Amino acid sequence: IKQEALSRLEACESLADLQELRVLYLGKKGPIQDLMKSMKDLPKEERPAFGQQVNALKQALAAAIDDKRTVLEEKEINERLQQEKIDITLEGRKPNLGNIHPLTLVQKEIEDLFIGLGYSVEEGPEVELDFYNFERANIPKDHPARDMQDTFYIDVERLLRTHTTAIQMRVLEKDSPRTPIKVICPGKVYRRDDDDATHSHQFTQVEGLVVGENIRLSDLKGTLEFVARRMFGEKRVIRFRPSYFQFTEPSVEVDVSCHMCGGKGCPTCKGTGWIEILGAGMVHPNVLRMAGYDPEKVSGFAFGIGAERVAMLKYGIDDIRHFYTNDIRFLKTFTRFE
Ligand code: PHE
Repeated sequence: IKQEALSRLEACESLADLQELRVLYLGKKGPIQDLMKSMKDLPKEERPAFGQQVNALKQALAAAIDDKRTVLEEKEINERLQQEKIDITLEGRKPNLGNIHPLTLVQKEIEDLFIGLGYSVEEGPEVELDFYNFERANIPKDHPARDMQDTFYIDVERLLRTHTTAIQMRVLEKDSPRTPIKVICPGKVYRRDDDDATHSHQFTQVEGLVVGENIRLSDLKGTLEFVARRMFGEKRVIRFRPSYFQFTEPSVEVDVSCHMCGGKGCPTCKGTGWIEILGAGMVHPNVLRMAGYDPEKVSGFAFGIGAERVAMLKYGIDDIRHFYTNDIRFLKTFTRFE
């Protein structure tokens, strides 16, 4: 038995063969087990010697099988290693990292500027009450000024805010009659508009409001000039042109000297040397009064920046729809602006 088993063991080529052999010889139906069973047919005095011999055989076979297993295992590992060559010079797969959206970059940049000037950032609901979006902003029901901002109404009382002036009206009401108020109000706003390269039914505003004693138009101008310089370059100057907003009086349209040509005239500024960047004005006495302030004692200024417009000017983007169609190739170009 031993000779036969050992020679078969020699011929074993794989771990599977080995396992088969093990069951064949050492298993319950194998020859060794048969020998054990046949012991009872022997005379009593021969049994111990016979038993010892069988046991020795069993152990010898088991040991031989174990040795062979070690050899075979090593062989299989070596074969696997041969097959699975790993090319460590191959480049790794780069994970796709996200980056900050250009509008978020601009919004944060403006916020940071104003935080540096002591403003706090306030947010509000995008589904807003007519009351804060219009009435408190001195735009009563049925007033033609409402046509200036084509509105998505939800029902008679609620709408999608058309400007973040609505946040400012909430702040005024909440803090009244405390002064000074210095807040910056960023957020999405909505207007019924046919989308094209310069119009979007949803866009982003960053509006600001300051209320206190002796706040004057020159304070507004100084503040906006500081901001324009930080955003578009230290050589920029700004100018005011008269405008009209229901919630400010006087109201102004603010232009910044063109950052592309320095004011000489180029395609970006359509040859004028100036670029319109925002609307602003002194808070209307009615707005202050409705919120519980005495317009004889306090005054304030407000301004509204369009984040898309600033981003388009700063980064030379020619179509507002790029911000919303989320073409990954467009978004990726802003990694370096972080
Ligand atoms: N709310 C105005 C708009 O959406 C912008 C603005 C804000 C103008 C504050 C004046 C003062 O067009």
